[in-house]
Amino acid sequence: MVTRFANGVTNLVENFMDVPHTSFVHRGWFRNPTRKRVPSTVKRHAGRVRMTYHQEEDALTGLGRLFNPRGLPLVHTDEFIVPNVTRVDYQWGDSGFAINSQCTPIGPTDTLVYTAISYRLPVDVPGAWVGRALTPLVRWYTRQVIQQDVRIMETQRQGLKGGPGGGVYSSTEADLHHADIEAYRRWLREGAHGPGPEDAERDVVFWV
Ligand SMILES: [Fe+2]
Repeated sequence: MVTRFANGVTNLVENFMDVPHTSFVHRGWFRNPTRKRVPSTVKRHAGRVRMTYHQEEDALTGLGRLFNPRGLPLVHTDEFIVPNVTRVDYQWGDSGFAINSQCTPIGPTDTLVYTAISYRLPVDVPGAWVGRALTPLVRWYTRQVIQQDVRIMETQRQGLKGGPGGGVYSSTEADLHHADIEAYRRWLREGAHGPGPEDAERDVVFWV
């Protein structure tokens, strides 16, 4: 899928890896608020920023529910790969899905995003024809969810432009991985001199 976003690559990458926004922006479509505590690890290493969520139960809504009829533990990671790719993985046993997004800048605050979604259904869902039959439904569902992000990211751009920073993002500790993504992208933008951002790893907690 190809989608035009009115925002820059760094902010989009953060959005695609951002769990907390999903229970607000995609409420009822992907995840509902549950007031659950999610311990996580943010790792910055070798041009990648990887979020690992230590949460074996995650009550997804929408099509996400298809993937775990047996209530298996979830393995969920989100990863940024320099300069402009994200990969999101939700895995329950042998089934799950992966969302790859490549963000191509077409202006300082405009981006074309190429999204590829691949999935493997649980073994007790019969046959390849189910997967093929689901494809138009997955496409329609994903389009609805992506358009929710298009709207919120355009709102963020307007907010940043009209705010005291004049369009420049200021991170706080609550932004989790934004600062790590920005560190790599700033280093590349400035010519990639020297060894680049140091490796870093920290444990964080948030609530969804
Ligand atoms: Fe989103």
